[in-house]
Amino acid sequence: MRKLTTMMTAAAALMAASSSIQAQEVEVLHWWTSGGEAAALNVLKEDLESQGIGWQDMPVAGGGGTQAMTVLRARVTSGNPPTAVQMLGFDILDWANEGALADLNILAGMEGWDDVVPEALQKFAKHDGKWVSAPVNVHSTNWVWANKAVLDELGIAVPTTWDEFVAALDKVKAAGKTPIAHGGQAWQDATVFDAIALSTGGPDFYKKAFIDLDPDTLGSDTMKEAFDRMAVIRDNVDDNFSGRDWNLATAMVINGDAAFQMMGDWAKGEFLNAGKTPDEDFLCFRFPGTQDQVTFNADQFAMFAQGPEVGKEQAALATAILSPGFQTAFNVVKGSVPARTDVSDEAFDACGKKGMADLKAAASSGNLYGSMAHGHANPASVKNAIYDVVTAHFNGEYDSATAVDELVTAVEINK
Ligand code: GAL
Repeated sequence: MRKLTTMMTAAAALMAASSSIQAQEVEVLHWWTSGGEAAALNVLKEDLESQGIGWQDMPVAGGGGTQAMTVLRARVTSGNPPTAVQMLGFDILDWANEGALADLNILAGMEGWDDVVPEALQKFAKHDGKWVSAPVNVHSTNWVWANKAVLDELGIAVPTTWDEFVAALDKVKAAGKTPIAHGGQAWQDATVFDAIALSTGGPDFYKKAFIDLDPDTLGSDTMKEAFDRMAVIRDNVDDNFSGRDWNLATAMVINGDAAFQMMGDWAKGEFLNAGKTPDEDFLCFRFPGTQDQVTFNADQFAMFAQGPEVGKEQAALATAILSPGFQTAFNVVKGSVPARTDVSDEAFDACGKKGMADLKAAASSGNLYGSMAHGHANPASVKNAIYDVVTAHFNGEYDSATAVDELVTAVEINK
């Protein structure tokens, strides 16, 4: 009898211990696997670990998160969702619509998220008036990254118009270098297209085409011109661009093998991780012709509902993410800017300061738009349909006129 009691006590203790281990651990699905991204993620891991909360890592390689979202769907379908998931824009709203996300409202109310998170982000962090995810940052996609030494050597000033940009590309090519470092993956092609479309047609055109999905704008001559410009970009990438990961393209600029990369400001994380300094080793500037505009995307962590109430460890993760100290520590490493409006830019480098100022200015002048390429303009079905057309055109399957027709049809079918 005594033996049985001892065994029962031991079993109870074990159960209590294991449930407290579970309660003290978050499993996080994310796609931050490049050097710069991993360095930023470490800031979050260490923050939680210092609070005694363990981190079970679930990385899914693949920039932009396409593969991560496929893995997530499989996990949820098999009844085993991760605790927390890195997510973008409309994907958050899609999962919230399915009733899969935990309600963070009480926490958000206690911590005053409504007052400090910008409206543009709340649109994706709230569903039916309830907070369902914790915004980590704001990235923007209409940036160009350049190797300063290469530009100096060739006497190239920062281009401010499309024509100046083309002239700069010609100079680099004539000098025997690769003008544009690019990775031929659908989301990267679309990232370039974000900036090209915005520059070609202006902010109103971008909004009508990618946010309103207006068929006339999608099928316009201006859209054809945007595809023609994509063909110019295609002529300025190296022969091995196909399938290349974005961070390897960034490395080409870091090493001086290429002059420019058109990429979101997560690219800055790679430069910093390689020990490079803005304005000394590399330059960051808005894609020519989009100087006053910002196409943004914000990484958020959505918590998958595990019961009627949000888990203790999920709440701790959300609190850590929204804390002003973390917002600075993380974003200076990641290349993004804070998801709170009350964080000072003091700790940020020149590109970060510019990113913060641009975001603020674009938001107040009405020139801030969700990025089509990064899930902030449309749900995944429409985004993927646009990806397919942009990529087929980039790889020479369609000429520009055909691409325009295909774009109109693809959007019409999938919206
Ligand atoms: C974006 C994401 C960034 C960065 C990038 C490349 O969608 O918002 O944080 O991870 O993909 O992986």
